[in-house]
Amino acid sequence: MERVTVALDERSYDILIDNGLLDRAAEFLAPLARDGRLLVVSDETVWAALGSRLVAGLGDIEAVPILVAPGEESKSWTGLRAVVDTLIDRGIERKDHIIAFGGGVIGDLAGFAAAVVNRGCNFVQVPTSLLAQVDSSVGGKTGINVTAGKNLVGAFHQPSLVLIDPSLLDTLNPRQVRAGYAEIVKYSLIEDAELFGWLERDGLEVLNGDPTSRIHAIAAAVTGKARIVERDERETSGRRALLNLGHTFGHALEAETGYSDRLLHGEAVALGCLLAFDFSAAKALCPIEDADRVRGQFVRAGLPTRLAEVGLERLGERLVGHMQRDKKRDGGRTAFILTRGIGQAHVDRQVELAEVADFLDRAA
Ligand SMILES: NC(=O)c1ccc[n+]([C@@H]2O[C@H](COP(=O)([O-])OP(=O)(O)OC[C@H]3O[C@@H](n4cnc5c(N)ncnc54)[C@H](O)[C@@H]3O)[C@@H](O)[C@H]2O)c1
Ligand SMILES: [Zn+2]
Repeated sequence: MERVTVALDERSYDILIDNGLLDRAAEFLAPLARDGRLLVVSDETVWAALGSRLVAGLGDIEAVPILVAPGEESKSWTGLRAVVDTLIDRGIERKDHIIAFGGGVIGDLAGFAAAVVNRGCNFVQVPTSLLAQVDSSVGGKTGINVTAGKNLVGAFHQPSLVLIDPSLLDTLNPRQVRAGYAEIVKYSLIEDAELFGWLERDGLEVLNGDPTSRIHAIAAAVTGKARIVERDERETSGRRALLNLGHTFGHALEAETGYSDRLLHGEAVALGCLLAFDFSAAKALCPIEDADRVRGQFVRAGLPTRLAEVGLERLGERLVGHMQRDKKRDGGRTAFILTRGIGQAHVDRQVELAEVADFLDRAA
């Protein structure tokens, strides 16, 4: 078993990673139960696929499921209200631990419910998608989407434990696995060139479900995220902004495709990371060879690498328009994560959007 600690003073917690952890859930979760039961927030798809394994793994502890429909629509005021009302109906107390059992939608929704119900109770992340295992379950960002945009309402609320069982990915759709893989590549590009080299050799093993490779890749990714979150928990100093590599471009692509199945978040991140590398290379900040290696990595993983592949070429003005509406803006400027090469990302707040629009118009 791998253990990664997120060191945040009294909010510190462990991330445990091993195949079969769900089947031993009682070992970790029974001490957190009250009156022999745990309230588990999940979505209907995850519960149908994996609920029985959790129930069996909890042994004598009763799992009380609180289910929402699968999909981003549940990460909403309506979804939050339903979850919070049910938690209160079921007698949630402040010292209780809610279990968030699902992908990023469930982690964000259940985490935010935990942040606000009774002015804050505890929660444990048991992420079931690769994206949630390497990204959303760690770091304490929780929230919902509102009419004006995604993730605009939320709270920083750290979990008290994260249990990652890579074997849960066996029931996840392969396209979703590839999308989560893009976030692993992202961490390597930020500041872990060694991980990038490892992914070039062994990355396909992760996608093919090799148990040992999955643990290695997930542990490396969450370690990368933990170290950044420790330095800047609430995104105040700018360090945490590095995690947005590929996301300024990526969110614009997602906004343009209406956050639909046409382009999954991780697919947008793959394209976004490449655009950040190509843009950096065009500005002579980064060797073109590094951008080519990144492209090779995503091509091998079966992720999109060209705007034209997803029908988003020559849309510079529109994409920059989405960036201007992004909540991550600071003092009216958009922060870009640029790079001097693989493992050497940095924040640049001086990029002119006109230059970006022009670059996007020329990107194929
Ligand atoms: N809090 C953060 O730091 C953070 C970071 C990144 C993303 N996010 C959020 O995460 C969300 C995306 O997460 P996601 O990609 O996991 O989406 P998701 O939670 O919608 O899961 C994707 C789909 O896979 C299904 N699923 C999940 N695990 C499964 C499994 N093991 N077997 C079968 N089906 C399974 C779900 O039911 C869903 O239909 C977005 O809302 C995004 O904003 C948050
Ligand atoms: Zn992301």
